[in-house]
Amino acid sequence: MKIVVIGGSGLIGSQLVNKLTQLGHEVIAASPATGVNTITGEGLAETLKDTDVVVDVANSPSFEDAAVMEFFKTSGKNLLAAEIVAGVKHHIALSVVGTNRLQESGYFRAKQAQEDLIKASGIPYSIVHSTQFFEFLGGIIAPATEGEIVRLSPALFQPIASADVATAVAEVALGAPINGILEIGGPDKVSLAALAQKYLDKNNDSRKVVADTNARYYGVLLNDQMLVPGDDAKIFKIDFENWYVNQPKKA
Ligand SMILES: NC(=O)c1ccc[n+]([C@@H]2O[C@H](COP(=O)([O-])OP(=O)(O)OC[C@H]3O[C@@H](n4cnc5c(N)ncnc54)[C@H](OP(=O)(O)O)[C@@H]3O)[C@@H](O)[C@H]2O)c1
Repeated sequence: MKIVVIGGSGLIGSQLVNKLTQLGHEVIAASPATGVNTITGEGLAETLKDTDVVVDVANSPSFEDAAVMEFFKTSGKNLLAAEIVAGVKHHIALSVVGTNRLQESGYFRAKQAQEDLIKASGIPYSIVHSTQFFEFLGGIIAPATEGEIVRLSPALFQPIASADVATAVAEVALGAPINGILEIGGPDKVSLAALAQKYLDKNNDSRKVVADTNARYYGVLLNDQMLVPGDDAKIFKIDFENWYVNQPKKA
């Protein structure tokens, strides 16, 4: 089977390309670095020729409200139009658990726009909604930091290792289109603020997390339901401790 992974050089994309290649499929890692750009259209038609499955795990270089909306709309329109011409049989996209509940945020409005374009495209599709990757903890902490203080919501979330996300997306890519959403998550529901503190402590980082119910996540005031997947979610095994021991340690 020929599978094109858009964003194939990224955190999820690179692991997905390895997994699918090891399983014997013809896999193309497509991204601007390899001459395929879903914003300009460069390389799309040539790369998608004779492709059965497209997995979109690209991300916007900017998370600023207008820029991220422009990215996911333009990228989605160009990609889906090229897939229709090429006769692609299954489109898979990676999005985020709770996207529909997080619409106060520009990033999540853009992810919703991406999903809506897919649903309206007529191409058989599967959307995987993942919880936050453990690898993203640093990215959650950085914008919440002021000096030595990190102000984060104590709301529950259920983070997952990127390796498990790649496994889940690979399985979906090799299966029949579900024409709906599959939710995936990690094994434990934990407080965002508490896990962030644990992560900082393990990294010998002196910053202190203040659990603040008024602290916004991507502009959204969280409750304990917003980031947590539903009862039908597929739950993966790698927990924080098992993930952490396998991370490259800073010198
Ligand atoms: N972070 C989380 O916790 C989380 C949770 C759930 C879902 N997600 C979703 O997971 C997806 C993948 O995230 P990630 O962290 O793996 O992303 P990432 O590591 O930031 O990688 C982004 C990829 O997008 C590619 N890209 C950027 N602009 C492009 C363009 N114009 N055309 C084609 N490709 C382009 C990049 O290519 P170059 O390297 O060539 O620039 C790179 O391969 C995102 O859609 C995100 O919404 C994230």
